[in-house]
Amino acid sequence: MSEPDVRLHLISREERALSAEGRDQPILEVEDLTLDFAGVRALDGVSFSVEPGELFAVIGPNGAGKTSVFNCISGVYRPTRGRVRFDGRDVTGMRPYRIAALGVARTFQNVEVFPTMTVVENLLLGRYHHMRSGVLSGAAWWGRASAEEVRNRHRVEEIIDFLEIEHLRHHRVGALPIGLQKRVELGRALAMEPTLLLLDEPVAGMNQEETEDTVRFVIDVNEELGISIVLVEHDMGVVMEISNRVLVLDFGARIALGPPAEVARDPAVLAAYLGGALGHEPPVPGSVDAGARSVGS
Ligand SMILES: Nc1ncnc2c1ncn2[C@@H]1O[C@H](COP(=O)(O)OP(=O)(O)O)[C@@H](O)[C@H]1O
Ligand SMILES: [Mg+2]
Repeated sequence: MSEPDVRLHLISREERALSAEGRDQPILEVEDLTLDFAGVRALDGVSFSVEPGELFAVIGPNGAGKTSVFNCISGVYRPTRGRVRFDGRDVTGMRPYRIAALGVARTFQNVEVFPTMTVVENLLLGRYHHMRSGVLSGAAWWGRASAEEVRNRHRVEEIIDFLEIEHLRHHRVGALPIGLQKRVELGRALAMEPTLLLLDEPVAGMNQEETEDTVRFVIDVNEELGISIVLVEHDMGVVMEISNRVLVLDFGARIALGPPAEVARDPAVLAAYLGGALGHEPPVPGSVDAGARSVGS
């Protein structure tokens, strides 16, 4: 790759201008979101909106409803009540693949990669909706390379460079440590060229070094690629340092929304966390409790 800075080429200038500056409407609007499972109200009238270019965090104790918010935004669950608007368009109840094709990509709390496939192959799968022929069709792999295939492979290589995983290109993803598997999953999400990226506990299960790397990539994705991010975290440490605003959920309801410093002093937030999994320490910036993984949610 001969470009001086491949990062700028991941998303064209026009696309970035469209995604970040040229508009004043929120990239995401969630209104009165309510989700019932049999006997359980997972979400209870949650409203918030995310501005273009924002790094927006959603925090709360285990079971607070964070992943449920993502599942409603991305179409995995249809909310019992309420609306989700992406880029001004009502996407409530739309199929996940359609919402993804509109520009919403996500990563999962329990990393979801194709373990027997290589890094390159996993990222190419993220290009799926950019391809007219099937991503794993014989033509894509062995046949005469079409302009489309060349472009897809070029994009994937740019992302691989951006995420500094060049040396792992042809490694099977299942054999990589969890931190790198999650980076590959992030790469697959980026390969979709989203304007909104949903990250569900991106540092869960990571050691300190992996956590620091991940935080750096999340910031770069937001600042250099201009992609709006909603970041779900169980812990406030990472969130305090990098997010523009924080939504706090407890028992499916919104208990606070505002800049991190404000939210961290909010009595309702402190009460929720003191009664929750974090013990008796108030949230401290930079203290990432990487061991506190949510189980089974
Ligand atoms: N598929 C499901 N069926 C039944 N209950 C669920 C399901 N998914 C989530 N829940 C419940 O909804 C609540 C919120 O869960 P979740 O959104 O996963 O919380 P968080 O991500 O904040 O830990 C929890 O009480 C959880 O048990
Ligand atoms: Mg969760």
